[in-house]
Amino acid sequence: MPSIEPARVARGGRVPADRYRADAFRELEAQRLWPRVWQLVGREAQVAEPGDWLTHDVGPLSMLVVRQRSGELRAFHNACPHRGNRLADGCGSTRQIVCGFHRWAFDLDGRLLSAPEREDFPPFEDAALGLVPVAVDTWGGFVFACADREAPPLRSWLAGIDAELAPYRFEDMACFLRRRLHLPANWKTCLDAFQEVYHVRGVHPQLLPGLKTADSTFAFWGPHSLMVNPNGDPALRGRGGPEDPEVLAGHARARARAGGLDVSQLDERRVTANYQYHLFPNVSFNTHATGCQLFRFLPHPTQTQACVLEVWFMERHGTDAPPPGEAGTLEIDLQGTRFSASLADVVPPPGARSFGQDLVETYALALDQDFARIPEIQRGLRSPAVHELLLSSQEQRILHWNLVLDGLLAGLDLDPALRARCAD
Ligand code: FES
Ligand SMILES: [Fe+2]
Repeated sequence: MPSIEPARVARGGRVPADRYRADAFRELEAQRLWPRVWQLVGREAQVAEPGDWLTHDVGPLSMLVVRQRSGELRAFHNACPHRGNRLADGCGSTRQIVCGFHRWAFDLDGRLLSAPEREDFPPFEDAALGLVPVAVDTWGGFVFACADREAPPLRSWLAGIDAELAPYRFEDMACFLRRRLHLPANWKTCLDAFQEVYHVRGVHPQLLPGLKTADSTFAFWGPHSLMVNPNGDPALRGRGGPEDPEVLAGHARARARAGGLDVSQLDERRVTANYQYHLFPNVSFNTHATGCQLFRFLPHPTQTQACVLEVWFMERHGTDAPPPGEAGTLEIDLQGTRFSASLADVVPPPGARSFGQDLVETYALALDQDFARIPEIQRGLRSPAVHELLLSSQEQRILHWNLVLDGLLAGLDLDPALRARCAD
């Protein structure tokens, strides 16, 4: 995986606007990006028992992850080897995988078990018509899959950022809220809004007292990244008052201790400042002492200017409350309602520490603001007057991301005009 000199992106640069609106670019991503990278497809808890399965759709790719009787995970392309029918959608549990078109049946390991009226087919080997496997692995309680079985293992894909993230103990978290939103914007338009806080002034002015937009720091591990936004002006937060970082850190630690949770490896900054990580290519998350909000950006299979965004709220569970069950997925139609309306009845699970009602409300308002703005960004990006996006040092993660993508696309005869550029 190409690594980009941090100093190169720190000066800012330019990204072609066609990356956000050209069907040809969506096709390039379909060929050169999605089949080649490890993707976060779900949580282990969603496929905990033998026969449990889930599907993951990203652009033209669809994968089916299945827990085996042996306990291991396997994953396959979600397409029937007979005539291609999509095998499954969502999640569930089964003893066999049966195609709904002509009822071919496959074992959990993908082997063909039966094909009705087989004598009417020309001869074929069972082994040649099993489900087509993809690579699957786990880290931190997450399930990852990669369509390229020759790709380096997940451990090398996550090298560096895995150690960085270890103190958060994602493997001990449960996802207690999962929302799925459809947005009329390219998936990267949506992702980019979660890669910088330069837009807080324009979109979320209420966050300014607690969040300083300038002076963020950045870190990169291969394709992945971190942005840390300092706390807002201490004068506005009030030294020793309820917004004082030291006071907040003390509260967070006390809440963790009450549940028997060890957060000793997380220093005060990590407990109070805004830490926002990105797992290339399509997952971003904000971490707190014992929980996180995770955002997963999924391109539409056929439309360049449409995407799905999933919002997951996750929390570590302590010894003082039973572990919360894994949340189902709720689809939200943003045409008729605001995102925050879908959170109105959300009660954080007993023992939740990172998610007080105040934090849920803070996120609800901020995400409403983002989801109102993102379609307008996409509408503006359609303008023939817009040729390039000019990125500041505050927006350097967007440039870094595009340079990583350039590396993946490099095998193709890509129009040089579509290449991202660092500032001279
Ligand atoms: S397409 Fe699946 S059985 Fe025919
Ligand atoms: Fe935002």
